[in-house]
Amino acid sequence: MELPPIPPFKTKTVEPVYFNTKEERSQRISQAKYNLFNLHSDWVTIDLITDSGTGAMSEQQWSEIMIGDESYAGSESYFKLQRTVEDLMGFKLIAPTHQGRAAENVLFSATVKEGDVIPGNAHFDTTKGHIEFRKAIALDCTIKEAFQTNVEHPFKGNIDLEKLESVFVEYGKEKIPFIVITVTCNTVGGQPVSLKNIQQTKALAAKYQIPVYMDIARYAENAYFIKRRDEDFKDWSIKRIVLEMFRDVEVVWMSAKKDGLVNIGGFIALNNKALFEKLCQFTIIYEGYVTYGGMSGRAMGALAVGLREACEIHYLHDRVSQVKYLGDKLQNLGIPIQTPVGGHAIYINALKFFPHVPQGQYPAQLLAVELYIEAGIRGVEIGTLLADRDPETGKERYPEMELLRLAIPRRVYSLQHMDYIAVALSHIYAKAKEYKSGFKIIRQAPILRHFTVELERI
Ligand SMILES: Cc1ncc(COP(=O)(O)O)c(C=O)c1O
Repeated sequence: MELPPIPPFKTKTVEPVYFNTKEERSQRISQAKYNLFNLHSDWVTIDLITDSGTGAMSEQQWSEIMIGDESYAGSESYFKLQRTVEDLMGFKLIAPTHQGRAAENVLFSATVKEGDVIPGNAHFDTTKGHIEFRKAIALDCTIKEAFQTNVEHPFKGNIDLEKLESVFVEYGKEKIPFIVITVTCNTVGGQPVSLKNIQQTKALAAKYQIPVYMDIARYAENAYFIKRRDEDFKDWSIKRIVLEMFRDVEVVWMSAKKDGLVNIGGFIALNNKALFEKLCQFTIIYEGYVTYGGMSGRAMGALAVGLREACEIHYLHDRVSQVKYLGDKLQNLGIPIQTPVGGHAIYINALKFFPHVPQGQYPAQLLAVELYIEAGIRGVEIGTLLADRDPETGKERYPEMELLRLAIPRRVYSLQHMDYIAVALSHIYAKAKEYKSGFKIIRQAPILRHFTVELERI
């Protein structure tokens, strides 16, 4: 019998899990206007709202917290981070920011103007928000399999090259400042992009003289999937795959709160000096001086260590196996999830889970609310609320999928917590057909409404 995978770490510090009754949770979610972002964390038992900034740091990272250099300019912690990024990713120039969307703000301030078109596999919501805020167009060129939740495809994050080429032909390099490959692709379920698709996208973009940018929040998980799911790269090290993913890429940006294994931070990395100088202007206006850009020295030091730890094979194996463990359990219970499961989360298909709840009544939000009431588990809607209205017409946009995302924080929960989640979902699934209605909106912000939206049961 083969030895089972085990977490490559032991526990040194623990933090409490909170328990409440169903009655208390029903009351609290109603007071929170059915928006799970409004819940206090001690009203939540298992928090799967995000894998972003919620991971546990290692003892090596905590020691960096003690020795961080907090100099305003020229901090040694910055250079430690710069050397790590250069070694792991091949980029010499690095602009830290306080998190991923801040990197988008700095980068797009320098590169996106009104009327531009930015294609990609499927942009993350803050990326889309920053593009649309500048009155540019964010276009998703996702492969169709990404939206077929029960179709097995090893790389559902891939770009549809035909769609991409038709966008290149229609708009040309004058209108397209760059294209974005997001690895892994959060919006379609944390699904990876294959190395071949990355290489083909780069070749196509080069033909049309369009630079390739990458959103690399989960670059290590993407590299792991390439190693596991593509025979041609099974003997490659994670580092070698990462370097090949980033070869000939003009700019990468990262929310370091994911595969950086830190609680806050982000950066932009590149080799183009002229563009870097342009970015620095915006870093200074929005984030801080260029050698800290909104991060403390200690956080940059911890990030330098985290970037390396995220590429360790035992870590990645444990990480991805845990997510798969939950996915397998749910599949065995017949619960409709996006398969194969991605790197950081389980996505439940709410249109299939609640077949009688109309899409216009936010069925994925309904599932999020019911799961919270059932067991204190907090997930997040990735559906119509998140898709938001069309910025031109103001009309509701209905995405192809209505998903509840259960994001698993890194190095935080055990397999027993996964068992608890599976049982809670099975309770709701057993009576799912009885649900006939969801929610209506009573208040919403002009953009990124899902964070603050207020709802009422229909
Ligand atoms: C793919 C991707 N890009 C960008 C971001 C934005 O990063 P942050 O939350 O650090 O601002 C996220 C956050 O979840 C993400 O998943």
